[in-house]
Amino acid sequence: MFSLYYFTVLLLSVCAGEDVINNRRFPPDFIFSVGTSAYQVEGGWNEDGKSPSIWDTTVHNNPAFIEDSSNGDIACDSYHKIEEDVANLKELGVTHYRFSIAWTRIFPNGIGEVNEAGVAYYKKLIKELKNNGISPFVTIFHWDIPQALQDMGGILNSSFVSWYSDYARECFKRFGDDVDYWITFNEPQQVCTGGYGYGYFPPAVKSEGLLEYFCVSQVVKSHAKAWHIYDSEFRSKQNGKVSITLDTGAFLPASNSSADEEAADRMLHFTLGVYANPIYVGDFPEVVKSRVAARSAAEGRNQSRLPELTPEEIDYIRGTHDFFGLNVYSASVAQAMEDPPVQNPPSKWQDQAVTTSMPSDWESTSQQFTKVVPWTVRSLLNWIKNTYNNPGIIITENGYPSKGDKDDRRLYYIRGYLSYIRDTMIEDGVSVLGYTVWSFMDNFEWTSGYTQKYGLYEVDFSSPNRTRTIRPSGEFYRKVTQTRCLVD
Ligand code: NOJ
Repeated sequence: MFSLYYFTVLLLSVCAGEDVINNRRFPPDFIFSVGTSAYQVEGGWNEDGKSPSIWDTTVHNNPAFIEDSSNGDIACDSYHKIEEDVANLKELGVTHYRFSIAWTRIFPNGIGEVNEAGVAYYKKLIKELKNNGISPFVTIFHWDIPQALQDMGGILNSSFVSWYSDYARECFKRFGDDVDYWITFNEPQQVCTGGYGYGYFPPAVKSEGLLEYFCVSQVVKSHAKAWHIYDSEFRSKQNGKVSITLDTGAFLPASNSSADEEAADRMLHFTLGVYANPIYVGDFPEVVKSRVAARSAAEGRNQSRLPELTPEEIDYIRGTHDFFGLNVYSASVAQAMEDPPVQNPPSKWQDQAVTTSMPSDWESTSQQFTKVVPWTVRSLLNWIKNTYNNPGIIITENGYPSKGDKDDRRLYYIRGYLSYIRDTMIEDGVSVLGYTVWSFMDNFEWTSGYTQKYGLYEVDFSSPNRTRTIRPSGEFYRKVTQTRCLVD
């Protein structure tokens, strides 16, 4: 039914006034969005009752953690620029705006009493968006856990599931009448692997293959509880869809040997599947369970480093999704390797037993982990379709980082992704419901500070006004949103 509809709409329609062969149309209800997150754009870090998150404390206590020793105290100053930001979004012609709520504005103590001034800020933003015909696409948690909760163990505290879900309930209650799409967690892989695996993000604990897996189980349980709260308490009176946003690059097998093909598949299960499988299929992926259990036994442990989900938990988590949120920026080549010898401390890298690389002829960007390889998205989208029973996928982030002026490559990158995504929809019947450019504007790029630019709008961080100027890539995206066609 779905494919018939899309085939009819897509194949019969042409892009008026444009070259019919090179210019291709997206479905009428396709979501065209741009994204940001609270800490990266808002500023106002201690205003109106907001308390510090772990990012506030990290950047203040340890500026050297950030490449240019900067912080998000002011960032793009979006906390004071609702009207200007929404006018720019309108200029871009987007149907949706993806932004996140700062937990520390709503619950300064992480739990307990609500800060009404924080609620008022997001109400104002949502109202301004709606008045301009833009639909809010809201991330509940984009990495900025309240320091007050971190002091009690943060995501590793068993109470985190109830702290988080109480916060999510408050978001649904206060904003849900006007929100169509909710994301419970943004890129939990960065929270668990970055925060507790390699330690490259706050709280910078290095416990690869151990606390990292416990963090994963906390995320899927918290996500599921928030989804159930929405389902039982709000769905009958609101129109929201609730899911999680996961990140991975595509993994291409180094050869067509079955060992390399399994290696590429295994990488996807270790990066994406540990979160997606419990939610879309039930339980952690078999390959992750069996490998971590076997290696844990060889290490002399009496239980697997990957926590076991009980049958009740598996049932509770399975099915807690209304779409599939995917952040994709790049790809790697995966090659099978010999099972590494058991080592102490253990690591997820050893559990995976895959060597990854990026061919030297792939075009680089200013971020080492991002290459310009839009064609690779096709295999990833098909993998999701086949592994998770063809869910409606929303690309919740995709974008091009640069240090200098490389906006022509940003335009090329975005156009390329849109083109391959559309091919995958038409030719492979993959259900892609929307696309989001990261980012609406240049912002605080975490440990890279302000050195990396992703914006369709350039932001002048040296001006007190944080002046925004649209880039040619933004003009291009506007043309796409206005024509719903992939224009040249
Ligand atoms: C992932 C994150 O969700 C976002 O916060 C970040 O800025 C971009 N990708 C670019 O690295």
